[in-house]
Amino acid sequence: MPEQSFIAVVGSANVDLTTFNDVFPRPGETIFGQKFDLGFGGKGANQAVASRLCGASVAMIAKVGSDLFGPATIKNFQSQGIDASHVRIAEGVSSGVAPIFVEPGGQNRIIVVKGANDTLSPEDVDAAAPLLQKADTIVMQFEIPLRTVYHTIRFAEARGIRSIVNPAPAQAVDFKQLSGADYFIPNETEAELITGIPVHSLEDATKCANFLLRQGMKRIVLTLGERGALLAGPERTELIPAFKVNAVDTTGAGDAFIGSFAVFLGEGMQEKEALTRANLYAALSTTKIGTQKSFCNRADFEREWQVHSTRL
Ligand code: RIB
Repeated sequence: MPEQSFIAVVGSANVDLTTFNDVFPRPGETIFGQKFDLGFGGKGANQAVASRLCGASVAMIAKVGSDLFGPATIKNFQSQGIDASHVRIAEGVSSGVAPIFVEPGGQNRIIVVKGANDTLSPEDVDAAAPLLQKADTIVMQFEIPLRTVYHTIRFAEARGIRSIVNPAPAQAVDFKQLSGADYFIPNETEAELITGIPVHSLEDATKCANFLLRQGMKRIVLTLGERGALLAGPERTELIPAFKVNAVDTTGAGDAFIGSFAVFLGEGMQEKEALTRANLYAALSTTKIGTQKSFCNRADFEREWQVHSTRL
């Protein structure tokens, strides 16, 4: 049995309101949608849940609103066995929410209203220091203030804790502040927005990843959807191919990738195996609707891995 890893997520929690439809309204128009799904989401919370389902011990550092969704979100963490002692309610603020629109074929469009996520401060991170310093990995995304992300990277670096930064949604960054990150994991659009380098081909992706490496981050994993994930480090660049599945909803696949990758790495797997497994974990999540509820547990994942890894 691999050693159990301890993952701390400093990040967001939202409630996802997902509509499935094949057409979208024009300005001033009302149309009927085909299906609706309400679920717990938020990139941070999704990554925490993926890590937990993969078998890690997980703690979440987050802020939720003083509305119906806030206590329900805390309860959701607790019911999954995630330490939510540092998930606090921000009084007078709404919870983060995400209206999501999914097209036939599974592609999604997401609008995030950050609400309480925007109040997660460096002081909240420091208040969780006794818990955070026990983690082997700290995972962050960009749905919380960037100053909190920068502070957490420094916190992790000073204590020799592995840090994983998922710059989603993309925004202008101060590269100097990100330079202590061990893994920087954008998708193509995020990488393009952050670097200004268009990512259409594998060659573009390599150029973009090398640019990011020159900014001081130790390793870049550029996720390329159906093409897989490009790993770039000082000594090599390698494409880790994706697995083919019938996708119905791609929402949260990036989070499934990151949450599972953190666990596989924390268990001591080589980077390439950890990334290959994370590719499969993410692909499997696209075969079901919803975000967190589309993630499988470790036993189911291992069964799928037995089948798919023989085809590598
Ligand atoms: O990555 C998917 C997530 O993005 C959704 O759960 C939504 O809440 C937004 O944060």
